[in-house]
Amino acid sequence: MKTLLVTGCAGFIGSNFVHTLLAGGREAKVINLDKLTYAGNLANLAALQNDPRHVFVQGDIGDRALVERLLQEHQPDAVVNFAAESHVDRSIHGPGDFIQTNVVGTFNLLEAVRAYWSALPATPVMASEARPSQSSFRFLHVSTDEVYGTLSPTDPPFAETNPYEPNSPYSASKAASDHLVRAWHHTYGLPVLTTNCSNNYGPYHFPEKLIPLVIHNALAGKPLPIYGDGQQVRDWLYVEDHCRAILRVLEAGTLGETYNIGGWNEKANLDVVRTLCAILDELKPRADGEPYASQITYVKDRPGHDRRYAIDARKIERELGWKPQETFETGIRKTVQWYLDHADWVDNVTSGNYRNWLAQHYGN
Ligand code: NAD
Ligand code: DAU
Repeated sequence: MKTLLVTGCAGFIGSNFVHTLLAGGREAKVINLDKLTYAGNLANLAALQNDPRHVFVQGDIGDRALVERLLQEHQPDAVVNFAAESHVDRSIHGPGDFIQTNVVGTFNLLEAVRAYWSALPATPVMASEARPSQSSFRFLHVSTDEVYGTLSPTDPPFAETNPYEPNSPYSASKAASDHLVRAWHHTYGLPVLTTNCSNNYGPYHFPEKLIPLVIHNALAGKPLPIYGDGQQVRDWLYVEDHCRAILRVLEAGTLGETYNIGGWNEKANLDVVRTLCAILDELKPRADGEPYASQITYVKDRPGHDRRYAIDARKIERELGWKPQETFETGIRKTVQWYLDHADWVDNVTSGNYRNWLAQHYGN
């Protein structure tokens, strides 16, 4: 049975990753280290509450002593780092937490992992040996396509060879963490893998991000805010496809390499919002018979807003045989249905921490 120390699993992608990993009774153990910021919700993992394959530890990736203790105690075969401050708008209002977690936190995590990894036997002692070795251990760092900056409408999609040109405090902090991971491989030989993925969507997505925010606001009769002209392009991937790609990279990725992950689904924001409105019109029509699209409201643009992201996913397809299973059309319909079926989850995560944060930062 493999043991993984996975950080940030109470968040959107991390929780989907645990569900994907442990689906179908698969034999694996996850030690989930999560600080439980406003974005971390144990409600995302309620189904695993009494499952011995999932061990939750509340704590910070920047707490080196805690991470060292967990590594010693559980002797994981791999560490997967999802933990981060993840929202671009928040990074504009307050970049400090992004530097602290994404940069300093990743540095401390890398140092704790390096100490653990250095003390492992160089190779497996016996084929049946349960303990990992330096050659079998993996550190997988989960990152974003935003590190590559922005594209014009005619540029080719981002390839792994594109230079890093991050534009927001969030993407700059993620770029910094990617560089640290790269350097820990180059300098110390730590067996690392990095993935750079496009925009995810699906279950357990916190309703501050475009897709869940629009579904939530539409149902609540609130405005659907479109930044600027709504013609910014994002490349959407259903979250479970991202999780399957990470598992594949963990299993077969070449050490020190980076892998771009995306679903070849470029869409303008306005088109995404119109699609959501049309699906809601069909699945849960407004009581007054008006279309949800009538709630669309143009608002001030995000400062420094990147115009277009698009991922060239040919490397992971060619080298590791990964391909997305969902199209945008199938994934987005499933997603809307999930939010309609889980109104209690939305109420839960938008109460408490989130309201407190809004009050603290925006006074509402
Ligand atoms: P999220 O904000 O939903 O979840 C982040 C999780 O990390 C939360 O559970 C939070 O409590 C935890 N966390 C934050 N700071 C921590 C700390 N110091 N120590 C321990 N835990 C901490 O984020 P997400 O959307 O699930 O993104 C996960 C990762 O994937 C991030 O690294 C993000 O940069 C990357 N990513 C996200 C997307 C996307 O579309 N959401 C796309 C590509 C890459
Ligand atoms: O590309 C990967 C990135 O995707 C991840 O690294 C980030 O963690 C994740 O948050 C996401 O970043 P974006 O900024 O692209 O996602 P967001 O959902 O915040 O916005 C998507 C697009 O929609 C973006 O162009 C801004 C726009 N937008 C967003 C919100 C919240 C609006 O027009 N209105 C809104 O209310």
